[in-house]
Amino acid sequence: PAAASAAIPPPDPNRDPPHDLFTPAFHQRPHTALAKLRDTAPAVPVMTPNGLRTWLITGYEDARALLADPRLSKDMRIGKDLIPRNFADPAKQAEFLQEAGERSQFPHVLSVHMLDSDPPDHTRLRRLVGRAFTARRVESLRPRITELTDELLAGIAAHERIDLMEALAFPVPFTVICWLLGVPPQDRADFRRWSNLLVSGAGTEEVRDASADMIGYLRAQIAAKRSSPADDMLSDLILARDDGDRLTEDELLSMAFLLLVAGHETTVNLIGNGALALLTHPQVRERLLADDALWPAAVEEFLRYDGPVANATWRFTTEPVQVGEVVIPEGEFVSISIGAAGRDPRRYPDPDRLDIDRPGTAGLAFGHGIHHCLGAPLARLEGRIVLGRLFARLPGLRLAADPAELRWRSSLMMRGLEELPVLTA
Ligand code: HEM
Repeated sequence: PAAASAAIPPPDPNRDPPHDLFTPAFHQRPHTALAKLRDTAPAVPVMTPNGLRTWLITGYEDARALLADPRLSKDMRIGKDLIPRNFADPAKQAEFLQEAGERSQFPHVLSVHMLDSDPPDHTRLRRLVGRAFTARRVESLRPRITELTDELLAGIAAHERIDLMEALAFPVPFTVICWLLGVPPQDRADFRRWSNLLVSGAGTEEVRDASADMIGYLRAQIAAKRSSPADDMLSDLILARDDGDRLTEDELLSMAFLLLVAGHETTVNLIGNGALALLTHPQVRERLLADDALWPAAVEEFLRYDGPVANATWRFTTEPVQVGEVVIPEGEFVSISIGAAGRDPRRYPDPDRLDIDRPGTAGLAFGHGIHHCLGAPLARLEGRIVLGRLFARLPGLRLAADPAELRWRSSLMMRGLEELPVLTA
C-alpha cells in the first residue's frame, strides 16, 4: 500500500552502495567488520548487492530475543509480498524475484517446510518430524559414523597433501544424510550432483532439471518406502502420525530437501572450521589429544568461534519492533548474525580467543526458540567423532597454506572454506 511505502523511505541505490559485508575482503575477516557494526547501532540497515534492504542484528542478547520473537515471521508466503517495498529499483526488484523463483529450492513443490513456516503450521510439522528424528536414531548412527570416518582417514593418510574439505568435511555429513533418507550407494553420485546444483543456484536451466530429477527420484523413494518401510528416517517420516495427522507427499518432499540442505552444508563447515581452528591453535590441540573428555566442550567452542551459520537467519517484521534505541518498522527484513552474536564481548569476554574452557554451550550457533536446530544432536555427534578421529589418527597433520591465504566461500549465510589444504605427515 502507498501509505506504508511512503512511511518507509526506500534505500537509494545511488546513495547507499551495497554494504562492505558483501565483498570478498569481508569473508576473509568478517569479525572486524561485524564488530564495527555492533558498535554503530543494535540494528543497522544494510543494502544487499541485489538492492534488498535488511536490518542486521549483531548483539548476542538482541539476536537471542529476536530469534524467539513471534512478531518476526519466516513464512515466505507472506514475506514475498514485502519484497517489493524493500527494493529501491524496480528493475532490480524484478530481477531478484525472477532469480528467487528460479533458484527456489523446489519450484514444483508448493508446500512449505518447517524452517519457512510459523505456528500453527510449524508446530504441526515439527511435531510430526520430531517423531522420526529421535535421539535413538541419532545414537544408532554413532558406530557407522566412526567406521565411515576411519575409512576416509585411511584413504587420506595415503596422500602427502590433500584437501580436507573434499576428502573428509564433505563426505561424512553427505553420507549421513543419504543414510537418513535411505539413498543407496549406487544413487549417491546423482544425489550429490543434484544437491550441488540446487545449492549453488548456478545456470538456471540446469538447476530446474536437477530439481525435477531430484523430485522424481525422491517421489520414487517415498513410494518404495511406503510399500516396504526400511530402518531409515524417510520411512519413519512416512509412517509418522499424530492424532490421525500425517505428512502429505509434498510435505515429505520439502522435508527431505530441508534435511539435505540444513543437515549437510552446515555440518561440512563445522568440520572444516573446527579442523582449521585446531590446526592454528597447537596448544588446544595438544590438550584435546591428551584428554578425550574435552571434545564436547571444544566442539561447542568451535561453533561459537567460527560457526557454520554466520548470518543464516533472516525473518521479517509483522509489526514495528524495537531493538535498543532503534525501531524497525513493520514489513522489513531482519538478518540475525549468529556469527556476530558469538563474538559479542558483552556475552563472551575476550571473544576473539579460542577458549575451550568457556562455560556454557554453543550459544546461538543452532538458533534459539521454536526453530532451534532439529539436527543439533546429530551435528554435535558428527563433529566430535570426525574431528576427534582426524587428529588422533594423523598426529602430524598441518596446514599446507598460510591461514591468511585460505579462500572462504562468499556466502553471508554460511561461513565455510572453499578448500583446506593439509600435509598429512
Ligand atoms: C534449523 C544450525 C546441522 C536440521 C537450524 C537453525 C540453525 C541451524 C541456526 C535455525 C535457523 C533459524 O532459526 O532461522 C545448524 C548448524 C548445524 C546444523 C550450525 C551443524 C553444525 C543440522 C543437521 C540437521 C539439521 C545435521 C538434520 C539432519 C535442521 C532443521 C531445522 C534447522 C530441520 C529447522 C528447524 C525448525 O524450523 O523447527 N539449524 N544446523 N541441522 N536445522 Fe540445523
